[in-house]
Amino acid sequence: MIRVQVPATAANLGPGFDCLGMALELYNVVEMLPAARGLSIEVSGEGAADIPRDGQNLVYQAAQKVFCQAGYSPPGLRMRLFNQIPVARGLGSSAAAIVGGVIAANLLAGGRLSIKEIMGIACSLEGHPDNVAPAMLGGIVVSVQIDGEVRHIKIQPPQGLKGVVAIPDYPLATKALREVLPAQVPFQDAVFNLGRVAMLVAALQQEDFTLLGAAMEDRLHQPYRSSLIPGLKKVLAAAKLAGARGVTLSGAGPAVVALADTNFDLIARVMGDTFRQNGVKSRVLVLKPSPVGARALEVK
Ligand code: HSE
Repeated sequence: MIRVQVPATAANLGPGFDCLGMALELYNVVEMLPAARGLSIEVSGEGAADIPRDGQNLVYQAAQKVFCQAGYSPPGLRMRLFNQIPVARGLGSSAAAIVGGVIAANLLAGGRLSIKEIMGIACSLEGHPDNVAPAMLGGIVVSVQIDGEVRHIKIQPPQGLKGVVAIPDYPLATKALREVLPAQVPFQDAVFNLGRVAMLVAALQQEDFTLLGAAMEDRLHQPYRSSLIPGLKKVLAAAKLAGARGVTLSGAGPAVVALADTNFDLIARVMGDTFRQNGVKSRVLVLKPSPVGARALEVK
């Protein structure tokens, strides 16, 4: 039996649209074992009522891609999914499902595929690498696709920095959140993001939090998505006033993540209150960055 743990991720991290993401200490666990026949899937935790138990299941679909490429074909498959990551909130639940599926399947197939190959399968299923790469590798990861191949650099999370994550009680599908994005952006907005993402990566690497507030601003996706997330601008502003170093949508949203090194409880309370004042129920978690990515807890 194979048991794999995969962290949640906050992608984009502000200006790093589709190329920057951070793993967080909140995990899904995938158990997978071959069976004599058929497919059996049990799900508990987040999304248990809605996650498909048949061939539509994303963990299963990811596993099938690996089995196919590895030339391995178990007669049947049994899976158990234990989910802590809220579904469709911007915390990388689909990337975690895909990464859990590809890693567990590759272990079941005797590790026939390389990390590069399973990363490629995972990113092609997800469509962009900014959740998949930190889910696999942990920490903060810059990732881009070059000639169809995912290339990445990992930064260790700075000491003392935590994510205060406000998670609205309604889901938003990434597909819908990508449909509101424009085909073109003003040149000045592209320049705005370029400077900030460069500054953000340098600041995280040097553990210099003083410029995170400006470095986590974004003009490429947040302005277009804010119409689907009531109170977003006010939550961003309130978190900073309460002491967050920087704050941004997590992934495509609707969750918002504030990076902070102090005042965690105050920031959490203020973010939750501000969403509530704008008619949005939410829960707030204070999460450390996960320095490790997906890993096998059991292989036997
Ligand atoms: N970079 C992606 C986006 C993350 O913003 O659409 C969500 O999957």
